[in-house]
Amino acid sequence: MNNIECVSLSVGFDRTRHVLEEFDLRLHPGEVTALLGPNGSGKSTLLSTIARIHRPESGTVSLDGKNIHRMPTREVARRLALLPQGTSTPEDLRVRDLVAYGRYPYLHRLTGLSSEDHAIIEKAITRTALTSLADRPVDSLSGGERQRAWIACALAQQTPWLLLDEPTTFLDLGHQVSLMRLLRTLHDEDGLSLVMVLHDLAQAATYADRVIVLQDGRIAADGTPEQVITPKILREVFETDAEVIPHPSSGRPLVIPVP
Ligand SMILES: Nc1ncnc2c1ncn2[C@@H]1O[C@H](COP(=O)(O)OP(=O)(O)OP(=O)(O)O)[C@@H](O)[C@H]1O
Ligand SMILES: [Mg+2]
Repeated sequence: MNNIECVSLSVGFDRTRHVLEEFDLRLHPGEVTALLGPNGSGKSTLLSTIARIHRPESGTVSLDGKNIHRMPTREVARRLALLPQGTSTPEDLRVRDLVAYGRYPYLHRLTGLSSEDHAIIEKAITRTALTSLADRPVDSLSGGERQRAWIACALAQQTPWLLLDEPTTFLDLGHQVSLMRLLRTLHDEDGLSLVMVLHDLAQAATYADRVIVLQDGRIAADGTPEQVITPKILREVFETDAEVIPHPSSGRPLVIPVP
C-alpha cells in the first residue's frame, strides 16, 4: 500500500473561507510528484495538512490506510518528512544539531543518539555537501546553505515519503540543479517517494513523473508533464501566453513565453 490519500478534505484558516474544499487526491508511492499553481492556490496548505501541521475541518488524510490524526506523532514522523516553506531556526543551533533533530522519531528516551544515529546524521551532512559547515550556527548560513541544512535534517529522518515546499527557492542555478539531481537520486536509488512544490515549470517537467496543478484550491490538471504543461493550462491557470516545445535532448515540455 503505502499511499497517501486525501478524502473530502476541507481546510481553512477562518470559518468564512476554505482554502481546500471537498479535496480528493491519491499520491502514489514510488513517484516524484510536482505540485504547481499560482501564489495562494493552496499548495503549502495541502502539504502541511498532509504532514499533520493543519487539522482539516472535515475529511481525512490517510497514510498506509490509517488516518494520520489517529497515529502517534512519532509514527507519522517515521513515515513522512516535510521541508516547509520559509523555515526559521532557533538562534545558535548548529547545522549538525539541526540534522540530529531528524533522528528524534527514533530516539530512545534513556540512551540518546546511538552510533548508528550519528552515522546517519553524518551521511545526511555529506550528501548535502555540508561537511565544512557542520559546526556553524544555521542562522549564519546563506539562504541556499540553510535550505540544504533543512534537507539534511529531512534525510536523517529516513522516511519513505519526503514532502518539499519550494526546495529550490534561494538557490543559485548550480545548486538548484545539484539539489534536483540529489532528490532524483533519492528516488531512483533509495526508493523515496517525493512530493515537491515547485514554481519552475522546467524543473517540474525535467524531474517529475506526475504534475498536479492547483488553482483556487482545486486540481486544474493532473498527469504526466507532457499532458499537463500545455499552452492551454499556462493560459488558463497562470494567465500567460506561451509556446510549449519538446526539449531538444530530453523531449520533456519546454515553456517559451510569447514576447
Ligand atoms: N495562517 C494563515 N492564516 C490565514 N490565511 C492563510 C494562512 N496560511 C495561508 N492562508 C491563505 O490560504 C491561501 C492559500 O495559501 P497557501 O500558502 O497554501 O498558498 P500557496 O499555493 O502555497 O502559495 P505560494 O505559491 O505563494 O507559496 C492564501 O489565500 C493564503 O492567504
Ligand atoms: Mg506556498
